[in-house]
Amino acid sequence: MAKKELQVSAIENGTVIDHIPADKLFDVINVLGIAAMENAMAFGTNLKSSKLGKKAIVKIWDKFLEDEEVNKLALVAPSAKINIIRGYEVVEKKMVNVPEKVEGIVKCMNPKCITNHEYVRTKFDVVNTHPIVLKCHYCEKLTDEKHLEII
Ligand code: CTP
Ligand code: ZN
Repeated sequence: MAKKELQVSAIENGTVIDHIPADKLFDVINVLGIAAMENAMAFGTNLKSSKLGKKAIVKIWDKFLEDEEVNKLALVAPSAKINIIRGYEVVEKKMVNVPEKVEGIVKCMNPKCITNHEYVRTKFDVVNTHPIVLKCHYCEKLTDEKHLEII
């Protein structure tokens, strides 16, 4: 393939989430809630990447992700890079930062936790970032990266 030939077509305005590990594409879609958006979107997966081996990419037309949304990505795809596109040009690249608190995205790994038995939104403090360790606001048990499950 020619060097500048894109594997998924270029967009005029919107957000491109690039360098997603191929097996994390569906987690990214869940975390950002983009399944419910009405914008035009394109997804690519198992694309070639020199850094990751295989990567996935998400393009959302006419959507400019806010930092808060971008930071949710840190939980599932810390390697992701966010590109803001205007007039076909990349005008901003955002890195993903791990947030201080995580609400309603992740399941508490303690089977006895109230959040696993009643309709209570999960809530965690981030106690470590690399690797991610979350402390449950309700049962105080830790959920680590290996057990991190997206709701
Ligand atoms: N892109 C796009 N539409 C545009 C411009 C860029 O979909 N009008 C996509 C590119 O396909 C790429 C991402 O946005 O996936 C970032 O573009 P660019 O910065 O040009 O690519 P790289 O230099 O390869 O970026 P990096 O090394 O930071 O990943
Ligand atoms: Zn808990």
